[in-house]
Amino acid sequence: MNILEEIAHISPNSEREHALGVIDRFLSALERGEVRSASCDENGNWHANRAVKEGILTCFRVGQLTEMQDALWSFVDKDTLPAQHFNATQRVRIVPGGSSVRRGAYLAPQVTMMPPAYVNVGAYVDSETMIDSHALVGSCAQIGKRVHISAAAQIGGVLEPVGATPVIVEDDAFIGGNTGLYEGTLVRKRAVIAAGVVLTRSSILYDLVNERIIRSENDAPLEVPANAVVVPGSRPARGEFAQKNGLMLQCAVIVKYRDERTDAKASLESALR
Ligand SMILES: CC(C)(COP(=O)(O)OP(=O)(O)OC[C@H]1O[C@@H](n2cnc3c(N)ncnc32)[C@H](O)[C@@H]1OP(=O)(O)O)[C@@H](O)C(=O)NCCC(=O)NCCS
Repeated sequence: MNILEEIAHISPNSEREHALGVIDRFLSALERGEVRSASCDENGNWHANRAVKEGILTCFRVGQLTEMQDALWSFVDKDTLPAQHFNATQRVRIVPGGSSVRRGAYLAPQVTMMPPAYVNVGAYVDSETMIDSHALVGSCAQIGKRVHISAAAQIGGVLEPVGATPVIVEDDAFIGGNTGLYEGTLVRKRAVIAAGVVLTRSSILYDLVNERIIRSENDAPLEVPANAVVVPGSRPARGEFAQKNGLMLQCAVIVKYRDERTDAKASLESALR
């Protein structure tokens, strides 16, 4: 039986010591990047891995509240999902100052985390990615290589429903400060999300270059095309009342596709690595 089959067999009737052993091996497989909450097929389509997400939910179900403390701090959380400890051989930089990586998250070598930042269970963060201060990488989020997650960017977690794809940010994307990516938003390679843009399944993305409107359809998440430069925008709200009061609703606008000028602005941090 592989680890996903083993964790699928854990039930409320399982003996707790046995369940804890399976959970430990399952979380270790996530932490090594061997199993992932979502994966990309050869056509570039992402699929949620239900068995992994169900396994993570099992960790919560089996977990019991326990006190966790060191010399300075004390916390109370599920005993199955404590914070991870890193050592220098993992070649991840976790700058001191209050960041936490929960068990079951994978950080590749050469990831840098500026404090305070949080990476939740099931997240996958690939090499050379920068997670800046006050950023959140939510549960199961999949982050590519050389991504810049700027200060206060919030990458929402998607644990349930288990079939839902998490938020995905592909290689070389730039996620600006104070952005919010939620409900399975998919950011394709090298896209740039300007400071302050918030994207959910209900967001409307206007593409000024190709004169098209991008929305999430049926079960698919909102998809930001490769190289798109997305800035915050607004559109008139519908109806007479809205018109009378000059009301606008938030939207997002692709103003251009990435060029050398964007590259220059989006590579701020290379000297800091
Ligand atoms: C997106 C960004 C990189 C600019 O990209 P760029 O390729 O240099 O964009 P340009 O300056 O060529 O602008 C193209 C158009 O978009 C508009 N635009 C650019 N950024 C915008 C923004 N953030 N909000 C609204 N409009 C914006 C410009 O006014 C311009 O419009 P125009 O053609 O009508 O004049 C920049 O706005 C941004 O968000 N940087 C990230 C800042 C940040 O979060 N840093 C975090 C460090 S921790």
